[in-house]
Amino acid sequence: MAKFVGKINTAVFISGRGSNLRNLFKFSKKKYSPIKIILVVTNNKNAKGLNFAKNKNIPFLVNNFKNEIISENKLIKKIKKNKVELICLAGFMKILTNNFIKKYNQPILNIHPSLLPKYKGLNTHQRVINNNEKFTGSTVHLVNSKLDSGKIILQRKIKILKNDNPKTLEKKILKLEYKLYPDAILKFLTNF
Ligand code: GRF
Repeated sequence: MAKFVGKINTAVFISGRGSNLRNLFKFSKKKYSPIKIILVVTNNKNAKGLNFAKNKNIPFLVNNFKNEIISENKLIKKIKKNKVELICLAGFMKILTNNFIKKYNQPILNIHPSLLPKYKGLNTHQRVINNNEKFTGSTVHLVNSKLDSGKIILQRKIKILKNDNPKTLEKKILKLEYKLYPDAILKFLTNF
């Protein structure tokens, strides 16, 4: 992507808690931040993160993706109308189809709590522990239509300690993600 001029119109897609959304919003308010969050999209009308969007007056859309192609096409229309230039998935639990990715045709980033390409998919922390891994971490990558498989932009790791469990790992990794996602966006938009 070319060097950015002004702030990039960004949509954040969430399905649940939305702590990365909260953090990206905080980041977007910094002078040096290249993004402006103009839209929040969710597939879950009960997502906790929606309350944050409402409180901050960020426009939001609930799309249940039930009839996938029709829903996605409607969403694309709205996204184009809002001039979204970057999509950041943050705890978004749907896999976007090729149809969506092709029609949108602009960058989509995702954050995944593992050292990709290892541990794609769900329950990463439990699987990492079951396999006696020494390290784990989180990865920001470009999205393609295959789960957690696009080009890696930035990755950070932590050591797994003897007494770690899925809960402690989740906590540590979330903390790491609050720095990683903004850093990855900066890297992607400035010199990727
Ligand atoms: C994060 O750990 C992210 O890596 C994964 O889902 C979690 C979302 O947490 N994709 P939150 O909803 O941002 O709090």
